[in-house]
Amino acid sequence: MQSVGTPLNRTDGRGKVTGKALYTADLVQQGVTHAVLVTSHSAPGRIRELDVSEAENSPGVLAVVTHLNAFKDHKPEPVLEPAVPGYILPDNFQVLRDDQIWFAGQPVAVIVADTLEHAQAATTRVRLELEGRTPRVDGQAGVTYTPDTVLGDPPDISRGSFEQGWQEAEARVDSTYRVPSEHHNPIELYATIATWEGNRLTLHDTTRWLEGSVKILSAAFGLPQENVHVLSPFIGGAFGSKAFSWVHAICAALAAWHAKRPAKLVLTREQMFHIPGFRPFCDQRMRLGARRDGRLTAIAHDGRNQTSSTGQFTPPLEMTTRMLYACPNVRTTHRAVRTDTQTPTWMRAPAEAPGTFALESAMDELAYELRMDPVELRIRNYAEKDQEQNLPWSSNELLTCYKQGQTRFGWDLRDPRPRSMTDGHSLVGWGMATATYPTVRSPASARIRIPQEGPVVIQSATHEIGSGISTVMVQIAADALGVEPGEVNFEFGDSTFPQAPVTGASQSTASVGTAVQAAVASALQRLRDLARTDPASPLHGVDPGQIEARQGRLILPNGRGEDFREIVRRNGPVEVVGHATPGEPMARGEIGNQWSTHAFGAQFAEVRVDADLGVVRVTRWVGAFAVGRVLNPKTARSQLLGGIIMGIGLALGEEGIRDRRWGRVVNSSFEGYLVPVNSDIPEIDAFLVPEQDPHVNELGVKGLGELGISGAGAAIANAVFHAIGKRVRDLPIRVEQLL
Ligand code: MOS
Repeated sequence: MQSVGTPLNRTDGRGKVTGKALYTADLVQQGVTHAVLVTSHSAPGRIRELDVSEAENSPGVLAVVTHLNAFKDHKPEPVLEPAVPGYILPDNFQVLRDDQIWFAGQPVAVIVADTLEHAQAATTRVRLELEGRTPRVDGQAGVTYTPDTVLGDPPDISRGSFEQGWQEAEARVDSTYRVPSEHHNPIELYATIATWEGNRLTLHDTTRWLEGSVKILSAAFGLPQENVHVLSPFIGGAFGSKAFSWVHAICAALAAWHAKRPAKLVLTREQMFHIPGFRPFCDQRMRLGARRDGRLTAIAHDGRNQTSSTGQFTPPLEMTTRMLYACPNVRTTHRAVRTDTQTPTWMRAPAEAPGTFALESAMDELAYELRMDPVELRIRNYAEKDQEQNLPWSSNELLTCYKQGQTRFGWDLRDPRPRSMTDGHSLVGWGMATATYPTVRSPASARIRIPQEGPVVIQSATHEIGSGISTVMVQIAADALGVEPGEVNFEFGDSTFPQAPVTGASQSTASVGTAVQAAVASALQRLRDLARTDPASPLHGVDPGQIEARQGRLILPNGRGEDFREIVRRNGPVEVVGHATPGEPMARGEIGNQWSTHAFGAQFAEVRVDADLGVVRVTRWVGAFAVGRVLNPKTARSQLLGGIIMGIGLALGEEGIRDRRWGRVVNSSFEGYLVPVNSDIPEIDAFLVPEQDPHVNELGVKGLGELGISGAGAAIANAVFHAIGKRVRDLPIRVEQLL
């Protein structure tokens, strides 16, 4: 029986619900010490005075690390050249090197003690005085500039003539949309345990990019890469965070070096808002022009993103706008604005979550302008091919998503007039939006070991961030070998395993899955060769081209053959590594300039808005998604649910608010920073539309980790407009905007 395509329960599920699955902070290391950070309370500026003598004499303290002693035994590299501009972030390379303060919350000292309590107590005995200026924390105070490149593309891109298309338009929308800074809040805090043996560093780290962590840590200490070993056990949620080892990982390694013992460092919830990156705020002006029949004649999307004073990170907000709807005249521009904060980073659908909020809100405004149904407007602008690359879609079931989503939601019963639908004291609104996310893939490798006894082991230096990859890789390997999933173990999270990419950009199933398939194929080839040359095998001397692998057996067309385990028992374990490399590098979802590869979906949201109080509740959701082949419908649906829920947070809750005097985030806790909880989430009907894609990759799969949040913010804002007739263009949607 095939396992791929079935809703196999998570192979790590039992361990996770019984507490047997270990996360970084759970690990107990012999003789471990505890490191706690002392951070700057304001920025930018420099340290005027840092007196740690009292802290050094505090009970249990083993070492205090500051910029004066941190790297006395090491020669860190001055900078680390990023593979992609802005990709490896420079914040790592400022930590504890001099007296400069770039962002509030920047570590200025690391205290290492025998217990956590001793380390925490000593932090109160540090005297720190800073001098500097008032921080620039918002879009008005920050310095706007044009980046050289935005993820490899020029900042401004144009086709046709926007001006001409705008002239020709019979209906126009010109609106500006804002998304605030958001902070990742996985339940699991960032954590690192560092251990030195001579000049070799071992790090247990909450990272979803082992290879990147090795690069960052080796450069930070001027070590050869082979001296750095990084282990990443289960990750308790990332949502775009944990792609890098941020400064705290370097601080943990410094703590262990100076204390001459292993050191554990776990960030506090408050530090989660100040040390790692976050979703940068953005503003986006959208102009849409269309004919009376709804066909778009012009699109302009002018985006501007927050970045830091030292970094370049700026996600390509306009990417979806350039490719999605049929339109001959499109112009997008991108700017960045420097603020005195830590450098921002990826957060789930970094371009698409905010980008589609603008595009899909503007499409809704255009639908009202035209008095046209919002689904119909999108159908009329459906693009037969990728508008930017001028390439055919490898597959595209967007129209089916609209249709099936519309039916399941009951959209046809919608009265389009705002404030026309009520339920008791609530105004009811229905809104929809298109979802899309590119399918990309990176080179990856996997090792397979078939032992004489016991389960088959597959290893790859990938990460289990909760998405279910360790389950799905078992399914792929089991089917390819013809064994039950229970006979395969998947091991991950070790930088010495065969290389795998960052678990990001929704690419891991496509990347690592093809590597697992390649590894199994080479193992079967090895087994065929062994059987052919083994006099004890019924396949001895036969043409290997005749041997098929089926149901755990190697057999000839006439049925003669044997179980592959018999071959291993006689000939010893088989171990091979498989590599899978996509034809061309794909930044944007295109393969070798032949196909454009994207997953699509349609989001339908229902809200109820209290007529007096303006409180918005999401009460119903239908999401229809086409993602190519579905390897495990249960874990796939779970990813889509997670994306939609995060979209509800984007629309209605999340916002990091900076103090304008000191630059700190004032609501850096679960009390002040609102993420959705169970009672905020309605019944969500997220379903998969069948789609076969022969081109996208060998597995026929598209990424879906980030697709669910795409379009979600606009679907809610559009539903709120329908409910109460007020267009909110500033997220999150708050009561005070609706009164
Ligand atoms: Mo995703 S935030 O691009 O890993």
